[in-house]
Amino acid sequence: MARSLPLIPVACFILVFFVLSCGEAEPEPADTDDETLIERGQRYAESREFRRAILESSLENPDNLYSQKRLTNYAVDGESWESLPVFRPIAQPITASDFDTFDEQGRRESTYSGPADEWETQWDHGALLELGERAFESYPLRVDGRLAPVVESADNLDRVGLWRDDRDRIGGLVAQTLEDGTEMVAWTCSTCHASVREPQGQLVHGRANAMIDTGELYRLGGYDDSIVGAWRPGQIDSSQDGVDNPTAIPDLRSVRYQSHLHAAASIANDLMALTVRVETLLITSQMETARPPRQLAFAIAYYLWNMPLPPTETTGEEERAIFDENCSGCHYADGTVAAPVDYELVGTDPTAALSPARTTGRYRIPTLAGVGDRPYLLHDGSIRSLEKFMDPDRLASTPGHPFGLDLSQEERAAIIEVLKTLPADE
Ligand code: HEC
Ligand code: HEC
Repeated sequence: MARSLPLIPVACFILVFFVLSCGEAEPEPADTDDETLIERGQRYAESREFRRAILESSLENPDNLYSQKRLTNYAVDGESWESLPVFRPIAQPITASDFDTFDEQGRRESTYSGPADEWETQWDHGALLELGERAFESYPLRVDGRLAPVVESADNLDRVGLWRDDRDRIGGLVAQTLEDGTEMVAWTCSTCHASVREPQGQLVHGRANAMIDTGELYRLGGYDDSIVGAWRPGQIDSSQDGVDNPTAIPDLRSVRYQSHLHAAASIANDLMALTVRVETLLITSQMETARPPRQLAFAIAYYLWNMPLPPTETTGEEERAIFDENCSGCHYADGTVAAPVDYELVGTDPTAALSPARTTGRYRIPTLAGVGDRPYLLHDGSIRSLEKFMDPDRLASTPGHPFGLDLSQEERAAIIEVLKTLPADE
């Protein structure tokens, strides 16, 4: 199943955040009953012990390499990620009017003139959402010279599948000011985790960018086909395990409904585990040279936790009954799900579940909340519509997830209708 491995370390391409696993999820770290989510965020920011407890209780398999890395470095005393400098970058969005203003390394003289952003705010609901949203679209993950050709021209932007929105921003890219007074192109969360709604060009945060094509990015950078991974648009390999096993960018609008983070169910999900996941992603993206302000990591997680789902309508009772009978052993109509399953039970491509970095042998049961507005389906994004997903003929080309495919055409059509309306009020 594994495709041949690209020679360049595509795996350390942009982000490396893998923690993966088997075993039972521990209960959440102890907390007082009446503590609000925001109070927990404050406690996370203030208490190393609390951060450590969150990490430990969220890992499904503490033994794999990346879990070991996090366990070694995160929230331990002394020389560790605890003592890294806090990264409060100056960065500004790149727009279409910036095409062709960077050199071939993706640099130019800094054009930034405003005040420095502290990336901090008050600990209240509205202020945290505002900071989280701002960080989601403009806090730089890391500068990357490989983005230089992308900011050269609109043609290259299209080739790599980065979006352009109604405010002319391009691909969620930002120009980050460096110490020497130059600025350089950097990624943000919104490069991968946002997409544009046509025809108005309105940017939808959380909806995966199904067009991003990292193979094209490499080709533009002059690498030839023999060393470019055979990934579909929307797929990224974020595991550092020497195997080409990309996953599709997930929909973040429904992340609060997921039982686990990551397709291979490596982290037991709740708001605090998500916060630590965001913080360590931002540390590894910076090559472990800096850490984000903790409040900022919490604000991003809090923003994701509160993301609106796409609007839906209600379904008829008959259709709902067909869905319930066939699907509700795993996916519940209210958007919640049952525990992850062995990869053999679902039968989709096993590569990600079996990858050395992930090692869970399981796939999570994805939430179906908002599934009608996802650009693709399954952990590898191999199916691009609900109609195709529920078509028994697809088994020949995309095996796995046979559930409901033996039903009559009318019943399958009814299920598709239900899927477009989830989550349902129970
Ligand atoms: C280069 C593209 C890319 C960028 C940039 C990126 N991500 Fe992701 N993200 C992914 C992919 C791919 C996955 C799927 C990993 C998996 O399931 O194996 C993912 C998974 C996640 C998940 C887990 C969600 C779930 O349902 O399992 C969260 C949360 C997340 N990303 C948040 C962020 C945040 C916050 C940022 C910015 C700080 C960010 N990502 C930047 C590609 C990206
Ligand atoms: C035995 C448990 C199980 C049953 C029963 C089941 N599913 Fe799933 N479903 C899964 C798993 C696991 C995945 C993820 C597989 C993967 O990503 O490779 C999944 C994925 C999906 C997806 C793709 C979601 C996404 O965003 O990727 C949809 C849609 C879906 N199921 C719908 C249904 C419907 C409709 C039924 C009933 C006809 C059903 N499922 C029955 C376990 C189940």
